[in-house]
Parts: sequence; C-alpha cells; structure tokens
Amino acid sequence: MSVINSSAQLDRYCVFGNPIQHSKSPAIHAMFASQTGQTLEYSARLAPLDSFVPSVQQFIAEGGKGANVTVPFKLEAYALANHLSERAAIAGAVNTLTFSDGVIVGDNTDGVGLVRDITENAKTAIVGRRILLLGAGGAARGALLPLLAQQPASLTIANRTISKAEDLVQLAHATKTYRGEIEAKTWQDLNGSFDVIINATSASLQSEVPPIPYTVFADTSFAYDMMYSDGQTSFNRYAEQAGARTRDGLGMLLEQAAEAFFIWRGVRPQTAPLFAHFRTKGSV
Ligand code: ATR
Repeated sequence: MSVINSSAQLDRYCVFGNPIQHSKSPAIHAMFASQTGQTLEYSARLAPLDSFVPSVQQFIAEGGKGANVTVPFKLEAYALANHLSERAAIAGAVNTLTFSDGVIVGDNTDGVGLVRDITENAKTAIVGRRILLLGAGGAARGALLPLLAQQPASLTIANRTISKAEDLVQLAHATKTYRGEIEAKTWQDLNGSFDVIINATSASLQSEVPPIPYTVFADTSFAYDMMYSDGQTSFNRYAEQAGARTRDGLGMLLEQAAEAFFIWRGVRPQTAPLFAHFRTKGSV
C-alpha cells in the first residue's frame, strides 16, 4: 500500500530510492497520518540510478511537498538542496527534502532518530557515557552530530579503514560544541570496555561482524545495530554472547520517519504502536 487517498488535492510526499519496492516508508507514513488525523498521500518512487535529480524535479512539478531519500541517493540529495540544516551539512547527506516556494530544503533525520531510539525508547543514557561507534561511512557520519550533542564522556570511532575514522574525528573537532574525548581506532587497537556500542558498519548485510574483541562489551553494555531484520542481526548475536543488552535499528527507522513527518506536518507521531506492529508482523 502506498497511497492513503488518491485525491489530487492532497499534499503529496514520497520516498526516492533504487531499489524501493521493499521500503516500509509508505506504510509508516500512512500509519502516522491516520494516527495524527493528517490527510496526505505518500508513495514509493523508483528513481533510475542516473536520474535522481530529474525524478525529484518531476515530483515537484506534480505538486510534491516533500520527499524522503534512501540508498543510493542521499549524497545527490545533499548536493541538490538549496538550503541545509546543520545536521545535514555535517552528515554530508540528506534523507529528508522539503519543497516550498521554489526552495529545496535538505535535512538529515537519521542521527536524531538513532539517538531518540537509544535514549527515549531504550531508556539508555548517552550523556557522560563511553561510546564506541563502529564504522565511518555515511551511516556513522549521519550519527556524529546528534551523538556529540548528547555530550558523551568519550566517543571512540573504529573502522576497517582508519583514515575514514580520522576524518570523522576531524569533523567532530570542527563542530566545536563537544567537550569530551574523541579518538579514531582500528579494530586491533581497541581496548577497554564501552557503555554504548553502536554498529554503523554495513557488515550485518553480509552476516558479518566487525572483528572487535569481546572485551569491548561489559555486562552492563548496550549494543545497538543500525541494521534491522526479522531475526537477530549477526552483530547483535555476537554482542549478546559477549553479555551485552542489544537492540536493532527498527526503532531508528521509525524515529527518523517520525522526525521527517514532524518537519513536514508540524505534528509528532507516536512510534511505539508502529514498533509493536512491525515487530509482531515481521518482514521489516
Ligand atoms: P553506509 O551508508 O551504510 O554507512 P558506506 O558509506 O558504504 O555505507 O559505509 C559502510 C561502512 O561499513 C564503512 O565504515 C565500511 O568500512 P570501510 O570504510 O573500511 O569500507 C564498513 N564495512 C562494510 N563492510 C564491512 C565488513 N564486512 N566489516 C567491517 N566493516 C565493514
């Protein structure tokens, strides 16, 4: 299901991606709209790999009010936006576009979605804690500013390619708002344990786990995999064996969508009923 009501007068939104047929965003936004009494239409649009910008322009010409952007177009959406939020500028990627009076505003709601899921839904504090972020690609970069805004005691970024972790450390220094410690590490360099360990690598997609030592997990550690699946992710299985509490990225998916909905409609939907729905129904 992708359309709530087919009337031409409805405010129209969509998600662009390639592939896009398995996107949960149309169902999520339809549920948000019905829950908040908002009347809108939200569809999934397949943009050809070489035609993201024309696809967006076409949607604007059709009266589109806003769009989510997913793999592989978040960098192109960043380049397309005429105006960027600070968190999108730092992320270097855009997942939420708003079209108004000829201006394309780009935002990134992924990082705030992650932080909200950890701190509010999983009731796990980041402030004052030792955080380990695994990965230094787009997902890690998107999480950087919202994580630092929580003022953890320290942020360690570990990645297979150390230079990319070092780039993120430089970016963090440039924000000048973070007062704690920040460092880049290779997997082999990691020592000591961490309070919150976030997997932002795409290793779980290949059922792999970054080669981190068991010792980074303490009995009280909270491990978060940004990936989600019907079953347990490979990272979360590893973290649980090491004694950690775990959570996957279903809540982050819902929270980033809720933040986009809020940007567009000025109303914040509840994610808990959707979490229960998708977890029970599976196939998220
Ligand atoms: P995304 O947008 O999902 O972050 P990305 O920008 O391609 O995708 O970044 C993928 C991240 O997962 C990178 O940190 C990558 O490590 P490199 O920077 O060394 O490439 C990491 N990654 C991917 N597959 C991995 C694996 N099998 N083991 C460990 N890290 C992996």
